[in-house]
Amino acid sequence: MTVQRRTLLKAGALGIAGGQLSIGCAGSDAESRESGASFVHGVASGDPTSDSVLLWTRVTPRDPGPISGSYEVFDSLALEEPLAAGSFTTDADRDYTVKVDAQGLSPGTTYYYRFYCQGATSPVGRTRTAPRGEVERLRVVVFSCAAYAAGYFHAYRAAAARADVDLCVHLGDYIYEHGNAEFGATRAYDPPDEVLTLEDYRRRYAHYRLDPDLQAVHQQFPFVTIWDDHEVANDAWRGGAQNHQEAEGDYAERKHAAQQAYFEWVPVRETEPGQVHRSFAYGDLVDLVLLDTRHWGRDRQLAADDPALADEDRSILGADQEEWLEDTLIASEARWRLLCQQVMLTSLPLGISNNDAWEGYPASRQRLFDLIESRSLDNVVVLTGDIHMSWAFDVLPRDAEAYDPGTGAGSIAVEFVAPSVTSPSLGQGPAETLEEALRAVPHVRLAQLWKRGYLLLDVDHDRLQAEWYLFERVDAPADEEFYAALKVESGETFLREVAEAAPERGNAPALAPPTTAPEPSG
Ligand SMILES: [Fe+2]
Repeated sequence: MTVQRRTLLKAGALGIAGGQLSIGCAGSDAESRESGASFVHGVASGDPTSDSVLLWTRVTPRDPGPISGSYEVFDSLALEEPLAAGSFTTDADRDYTVKVDAQGLSPGTTYYYRFYCQGATSPVGRTRTAPRGEVERLRVVVFSCAAYAAGYFHAYRAAAARADVDLCVHLGDYIYEHGNAEFGATRAYDPPDEVLTLEDYRRRYAHYRLDPDLQAVHQQFPFVTIWDDHEVANDAWRGGAQNHQEAEGDYAERKHAAQQAYFEWVPVRETEPGQVHRSFAYGDLVDLVLLDTRHWGRDRQLAADDPALADEDRSILGADQEEWLEDTLIASEARWRLLCQQVMLTSLPLGISNNDAWEGYPASRQRLFDLIESRSLDNVVVLTGDIHMSWAFDVLPRDAEAYDPGTGAGSIAVEFVAPSVTSPSLGQGPAETLEEALRAVPHVRLAQLWKRGYLLLDVDHDRLQAEWYLFERVDAPADEEFYAALKVESGETFLREVAEAAPERGNAPALAPPTTAPEPSG
């Protein structure tokens, strides 16, 4: 960790502004010192539609009290002639965060934007609206599970350099609630103890957003984000969490505080309080269907031998979200349905049980399988995070005997499990032993159980390809490795190996200029 970064962390945690913190101000240091306000937490964008996108920043004010400012949206890095502009106000009630919905934009278009406040100018952000109509190709990066304490965000830094990416999907565990050294000890958190209150969660988000790698990836691409458990507490369900004890206060209050901070700090449109399940159309190519298997309607986890596990009315989504999912999938007419969600749909093989995932909610999972089969829903691709491992599966609704890996008979969809950005799982030794045993399990098409990284999806009308980009370590600098690629062809329900990564797209719009001195991860 460099001195510069440490300075930023400390100052940010105290919520003060000064010359050291004036990163991203367009004016001279002297000018930004005079202004008082600053944008040290960077910029972000999210939830793009074909004519709008959410733009986000946070003002660090010099003095408390309501503060107002403005923003502009441009179609080139020349930053002349704004195509859209507006004003904002913010205050302590929303932790000085700013979310504006820039509207009247064109589909499938890259934009640049910046905010202004009290003489200070934010870093320039770059974003992209969703396309409409016929769409040839999309490139989507998928992230999950970024325990700050566990290491450096190499995955965010590497993805930020991919100018041809349309969108990042984050499957949750964007923050972790732990205190120092509870789940990784490479870096220290602010606040140092487990986060419980609104103030705690806000400080944790603020701390994350001072990370230069996370800032870099938010600066370049729109995010579509859902939460997993750690945005509140480990192994959460709708009424509690494994990592919530009575002595820590009322769970409903904690959950409410955590979700308030989330909606303040993450560029997600809040439709209903506490709701992140929603969908996005990417023209005729992809419908993104995002689920909340955690906090919305999930019944409490049960032990594998609990007879109540099989109850018909047990749900991981809640009845209303199940109904919404059914309606949304049936109405989807795009070539591909990307079911973006948190926990593994496929049961862990080799008799290992994971009742925090869909296998702990068998009736709920069966209803999803039945829906896919009875409605003949084709080209369903499940994206999963949560488990800090890379997996790929053909999705089997019944016993493996009915399954033919050569034709996909007996499989109804495919599932890709994204690696974690940093969060640990098995060590290399035990992971490799397990990987070896998994080679005998036919519907497991990929199992890499210890490296960190991200997924890149390359999608066209003929096939959807997933590529794994991995790092051997996150406690120190490491090189990105293209690990593997698999594809599913349109109309099929099984994965095929691919030798090479898909070619990058030419003529990608210019990246926004970096706002901090280049600083390698780690
Ligand atoms: Fe996680």
